[in-house]
Amino acid sequence: MNHKARIAVLVSGGGTNLQALIDAQQSGIVKSGEIILVISNNPSAFALERAAKAGIDTLIVSKKTFGSQEAFEQAIMDALDQNGIDIIVLAGFMSILSERFTSAYPKRIINVHPSLIPSFCGKGFYGLRVHEAALEYGVKVTGATVHFVNEVPDGGEIILQKAVAIRENDTPQTLQKRVMRLAEWKLLPAAVEKVSADIVKQKGE
Ligand code: GAR
Repeated sequence: MNHKARIAVLVSGGGTNLQALIDAQQSGIVKSGEIILVISNNPSAFALERAAKAGIDTLIVSKKTFGSQEAFEQAIMDALDQNGIDIIVLAGFMSILSERFTSAYPKRIINVHPSLIPSFCGKGFYGLRVHEAALEYGVKVTGATVHFVNEVPDGGEIILQKAVAIRENDTPQTLQKRVMRLAEWKLLPAAVEKVSADIVKQKGE
């Protein structure tokens, strides 16, 4: 049987986690799933160029062009539906999705967060801010978490987690890079493969 789970990746920025998924697909680390579509809420996200370069379809769904959160999310849901998407990966997607959206895809939405949840997570903790908060607090260990998404921001079931040591002279930028390199870029493909394999198995039963 050679059916693969159909994956959509939602992005907002640089897209290094998207790149890690593309590379993992090419190297065979992700073998049970295939990235079908990349959706960005930011028209100038570099992630869109990464997707295009890899020959993956892209779609821009900008909040500004839709009057409400509901219409914005409906446009995303329509695209997911039209493409028969099984798994939605939030890879640096900087918009919190409503319960209406998250409850439509139980255990089908995966997010990568740059800390060890439940530390430095939830509303307001995203991107560089997470690392600023970790350094400000003075923790000696941080890391990354990949988890399922539910109605609680960063509150869904944890799939994989990896710790990264903080160094004395770290800045938010150096810490962000190290957490990405040592944790996020490995964890996200591993989690996507795990969930994809489960879905392929379920479909075959
Ligand atoms: C990543 O560090 C990701 O974990 C984080 O934003 C960055 C996106 O980078 N996501 C969050 O903070 C979500 N709460 P990328 O666009 O290069 O993948």
